Amino acid sequence: MTAPGLAAANLGYAHRHLLGIEGLSADEISFLLDLSENYVELSRRGNKKTALLRGLTIINLFFESSTRTRTSFELAGKRLGADVINMSIAWSSIKKGETLIDTAMTLNAMHPDVLVVRHPDSGAVKLLSEKVTCAVINAGDGSHEHPTQALLDGLTIRRRTGRLEGLIVAICGDILHSRVARSNIHLLGIMGARVRVVAPPTLLPAAVERLGVEVFFDMKEALKDCDIVMMLRLQTERMHGTFVPSTREYFRFYGLDADKLKAAKPDASIMHPGPMNRGIEIDSELADDIDRSLIREQVEMGVAVRMACLDALTQDLRGHNLAVAAVDPEVGAKVGAKVGSGS
Ligand code: NCD
Repeated sequence: MTAPGLAAANLGYAHRHLLGIEGLSADEISFLLDLSENYVELSRRGNKKTALLRGLTIINLFFESSTRTRTSFELAGKRLGADVINMSIAWSSIKKGETLIDTAMTLNAMHPDVLVVRHPDSGAVKLLSEKVTCAVINAGDGSHEHPTQALLDGLTIRRRTGRLEGLIVAICGDILHSRVARSNIHLLGIMGARVRVVAPPTLLPAAVERLGVEVFFDMKEALKDCDIVMMLRLQTERMHGTFVPSTREYFRFYGLDADKLKAAKPDASIMHPGPMNRGIEIDSELADDIDRSLIREQVEMGVAVRMACLDALTQDLRGHNLAVAAVDPEVGAKVGAKVGSGS
């Protein structure tokens, strides 16, 4: 189930892990987005299952609670025919650093092929990737990166507007704590979009303009003539202290409502990674407006993008399996069943 020409070339994504968007090239991002398009089609079919990853094991290792990201990785792995194990670890009940490495080594000894990891500390997933022998996908590390979210956002935007280059995208709200914002700023910048960020000063990282964005403190100014309005959740679980006077005041100045949206292009689309706080960062009716809101589409694209990432990161592995089958008929007979219907 790979796009014609892509599997044969197998040159599209040449890294062992997917830890972040920073440092990827425009070609690599386009490759992953193109590959995802195939999986959008597959996921809309009655029979959604392929045998591409049959025999491979994926472990979802979540040190932070998650509904949509974990579920979509699980669905993605299962639709590709892999064995998927979910491990949720209550962060409060374990000791930091030591346990992360211990857990990684324990899991590594079970020979998973891909580890999908979410962790509340920035940098923890990279550290883990240095200790294990399998591919690692970052499903969100602290306020650092969430690469598959940016890819699914990029795919959603590209499908709606036909391009990323030259678009004006406003990312609004709690930029300071948002790994979604960081990954999107990188991806949109690499793909040639113009990114604006808008937030109260307390919710902007120091020197954010160094990431190549334009900074605004006023929503209407930030939204002026933009193509995409990307809202973020107020991430109170990462806040130590008070960052906004009250949620009512926050909504008044930074919540997206019909009046503020008028500043954007007439056909501008609205996005939100979820989970949403209706009435705090976004007006409930706007979130459900089928003409303007891409929020449901984002969820759908999430599964397709994760299938593409799992496909891309295991292409070498499947190649090796096939090579084994070719040189040793006995092993090949066993492995053949494993890789037989993968293309
Ligand atoms: C995001 C996350 O976890 O960073 N959500 C998600 O992946 N669906 C954004 C958020 O939690 O606000």
